[in-house]
Amino acid sequence: MIGKDRFLVTAALPYANGKLHVGHIAGAYLPADTYVRFLRLWGKEAIFVCGSDENGAPITVRALQEGVSPQEIVDRYDAILRSSFAELGIEFDIYGRTHTPRHNEVSQQFFLRLLERGYLAKRACDQIYCRTCCMFLPDRYVEGICHWPDCGGAGARGDQCEKCGRPIDATRLLQPKCVVCRQQKRPAGDVIIRTTEHWYFLLDRCADEIRRYLDSHPEWRESVRRFSYGLLEQGLRERAITRDLAWGVPVPLPEAAGKVLYVWFDAPIGYITFTRVLCESRGQPEGWKKFWQDETAGLVHFIGKDNTVFHAVIFPAMLWAHGGYRLPDAVVANEFLNLEGDKISTSRGWAVWVDEYLANFAADPLRYYLTAIAPETSDSDFSWREFQARNNGELADNLGNFIQRNLAFCAKYFDGKMPEASQGLTAGAGLLQEIEDSRREIAEHLANFRFRAGLERLMRLSQRGNQFLAETAPWQMRKRDAAACAAAVHIGLRAVEALSIFMAPFLPFAAANLRRMLRLPAVAPGDWLAEPRLTVGHVFGEPEVLFPKIDDGAIERQMRAL
Ligand code: 2FM
Ligand code: ZN
Repeated sequence: MIGKDRFLVTAALPYANGKLHVGHIAGAYLPADTYVRFLRLWGKEAIFVCGSDENGAPITVRALQEGVSPQEIVDRYDAILRSSFAELGIEFDIYGRTHTPRHNEVSQQFFLRLLERGYLAKRACDQIYCRTCCMFLPDRYVEGICHWPDCGGAGARGDQCEKCGRPIDATRLLQPKCVVCRQQKRPAGDVIIRTTEHWYFLLDRCADEIRRYLDSHPEWRESVRRFSYGLLEQGLRERAITRDLAWGVPVPLPEAAGKVLYVWFDAPIGYITFTRVLCESRGQPEGWKKFWQDETAGLVHFIGKDNTVFHAVIFPAMLWAHGGYRLPDAVVANEFLNLEGDKISTSRGWAVWVDEYLANFAADPLRYYLTAIAPETSDSDFSWREFQARNNGELADNLGNFIQRNLAFCAKYFDGKMPEASQGLTAGAGLLQEIEDSRREIAEHLANFRFRAGLERLMRLSQRGNQFLAETAPWQMRKRDAAACAAAVHIGLRAVEALSIFMAPFLPFAAANLRRMLRLPAVAPGDWLAEPRLTVGHVFGEPEVLFPKIDDGAIERQMRAL
């Protein structure tokens, strides 16, 4: 796929009902941002699309909890989400919102087209109704025990079981309870099943196509494939895509007053809405088609694993049923990130919140640590102690130190100018080869979504650089063989220049600082493969510490605050 020239990359739209924590970042946003930055350095055209998921019950449940309007909730959290992303250096080309007239229009058109093509059917259906609240309860307003016989997870919501991850049929939940009543501290009970009408997406009719689609992607992560084939084996069933709710995209039919589209129907369409808005803002109203209708572009979705069913099965089926769309090339789902050995839980407050992290530390150490422990093939664990150890031992002592040693030595003995390598580069041939091997291997890892391996490869280059300095010991050579000393420093600085590019997808702030110190322009599209810019005599800026160490006190404060 990396052979393509143009890419649309999306990251799951976060619900505008809460703040971001490290699990969200590690799950989808950081790998997506790293990938986009890499694509551009590799010379590809890429657009990066995301936005707030503002519709549906997740928002109204929150509004109810806080006793405010849904609009107030989405306005507040949309602003918080935006600033957390910006401060972490997660840079979208567009960050849209789904509670907007434009998105209503795009989603409604999509719905009508599926209806016209015979992929939607209206059905009477039983639904949970709370007699105390006098309303049908959307999935998320019902809680009970998971109905899958081999699970039995408690506290399962009516849409998806958190324990087994499978979709839930709310009317089959065991011991269903009304969330609204619980919120308002009313006695639970009086939840009945009553008949209503909804529109169903005939997903079962897309099963053959979805199987062919999955078959055509043997390269996808095993977890995504296993999960999706598992759903096919169980048989794809039609799914209600409307809800009795007052907040969301109104169903565009006169007979459907009071009904809205199910949030999981409109949210992925958000990727299309935002691409359209982005292209329109760039004066290319038809530009979105290059990404959504043209197979020559790459389309990649980054998600957390709990979103797999929607991105690997349902959304592709929606696109196919609609017609005229190409299907995503890759659905990159990460497993979960735990915190200090326990599952992250927003309700129990067991989380590291991005805004609180950023009030105490810089963005890059978190980006580094979350990539180093990325839950790519299995769940992984965030630990404050390990965060500190990796920052101090790897970022500061390995990468930062290598850069610093070269620049400081050059400042002291070569007047801060790139020394000559007149003696030839033989002594450093190994390190020069290592630079080229890293260039190729990091790229290969990133192109295949192996971010953790890519970062490890980057760190190995810096480690080899440190070994080179230890072996050649230019500080000892200086008086004995000035030319050999100059050549060694020259080669060390060539590695530093290469690092300033290879670091950029992972550590954009440090890379930008390093480029300033090197007095080189900020990294630009295509730089991954560009010729080195440092020439003999190039004047460097003042060396500064790129990665300060984090002391025990700062970590202990975080651990106490958990
Ligand atoms: O799980 C979530 O946070 C959802 N808001 C993700 C939506 S992704 C997409 F479909 F928009
Ligand atoms: Zn109720």
